Amino acid sequence: MTAPRLKEPQIPSGRTRHNAEKWSWVFMRISGPLLLVLIVTHLFVNLMTGDGINQIDFAFVAGKWASPLWKIWDFVMLVLAMLHGFNGMRLLINDYAHRAGLRKVLHALLGIATVVIIVLGSLVIWTFDPCLGTDPSLVPDFCKDLA
Ligand code: HEM
Repeated sequence: MTAPRLKEPQIPSGRTRHNAEKWSWVFMRISGPLLLVLIVTHLFVNLMTGDGINQIDFAFVAGKWASPLWKIWDFVMLVLAMLHGFNGMRLLINDYAHRAGLRKVLHALLGIATVVIIVLGSLVIWTFDPCLGTDPSLVPDFCKDLA
């Protein structure tokens, strides 16, 4: 039996980037297992401890984000998941979008989506304040003690 004929991978034309594809390969191998640990722990803590899915409400999130550990945990998970997904999609676009113009447009859309989601997610994590609410009846009791 003969091996199937494979098409050469598409190499983005233009700029030469010193070893960029090697570092992209290394990044995917490091971030993959790390994400596995981060996400499995995330799911375990949220779904398997305490009341499981029933415990997830505003107070649960406020409680978790009172600890810098979970803020940093979620931030690292957000950034790594987005960069891992970005890089995977970038390679898929290189492989399947054969026209240079289309590739440029798809890469640009992917880059914009990645930056927007990282910025919005980071704002949620780092500016979260359980005592800031437009409806005072929804503000937790401990905020009244702080006022
Ligand atoms: C049934 C499954 C899931 C549930 C119930 C859940 C629940 C939650 C909850 C309650 C939070 C807020 C605080 C915290 O617990 O850390 C959160 C945040 C987060 N989750 Fe999940 N999650 C689930 C699956 C996932 C998966 C599969 C991923 C990654 C691929 C993920 C990524 C994140 C990230 C990045 C944040 C931080 C969000 C932000 O930037 O504001 N979650 N999740």
